[in-house]
Formats: sequence, C-alpha cells, structure tokens
Amino acid sequence: MVETTTAGRLCRLDDIPDGGATAVEVDSPSGGFSLILLRDGEAVRAFHNECPHAGRRLDWAPGKFLLKDRVLVCAAHGASFDAGSGACLGGPCRGACLAGLPVRVEDGEVKLR
Ligand code: FES
Repeated sequence: MVETTTAGRLCRLDDIPDGGATAVEVDSPSGGFSLILLRDGEAVRAFHNECPHAGRRLDWAPGKFLLKDRVLVCAAHGASFDAGSGACLGGPCRGACLAGLPVRVEDGEVKLR
C-alpha cells in the first residue's frame, strides 16, 4: 500500500504489479479516502475502495486484493467485480458497481485527472 501526500499524485506506475492492484490513501478536506488502482500494462483504472454491499474496504489487508482473471473479489463477503468496469458480477450486491475515479499515467506517475 502506498500513501499519497502530494495533491494529484497517487503513486508510480511501477508501484502497481502489472495485472495486479494496490491501494492508495488519498488526503482530502473531508478526511480522505482509499482508492483501488488496477494496472493492465500502461493503463490504470481507479475505483473507490468501498464495496457497494456494506461499505467495507475490498482488500483483505491494506493494498492486498483477491484478484484473478480480471475479477476482483471483496474480502468481506465475497462479491465479485469486473476489474475493467467495476460492475458487480455476483454476490450480495449483484448489479451494483464500484465507484470509479479518472486517473492518468504521466511520466511513469499515476495521477488523479
Ligand atoms: S462488503 Fe463487500 S461483499 Fe459485503
């Protein structure tokens, strides 16, 4: 897990394993929030680390996710999500979706848009 302190900069692309995920903690005036960053080559997608079922974090330990074949599984009660779209594929919140956030990769850095 990577902590972020500089506005807009989340982490280095290399901090995220290719085909894997990590979490970053983002400071904000409202107290901050956690993001899931999923990497596919040079592309990164970001979702709030908050499950639409019961609002729990999806990681089983900070920055450690159950992710296989582009399916992300919530560690709390097992809801499964498409890692590309964030759509819930099965489990207690089927049909819901993770909340995405736009990010970009620039000079090897992952940044909020
Ligand atoms: S909080 Fe994620 S499945 Fe219940």
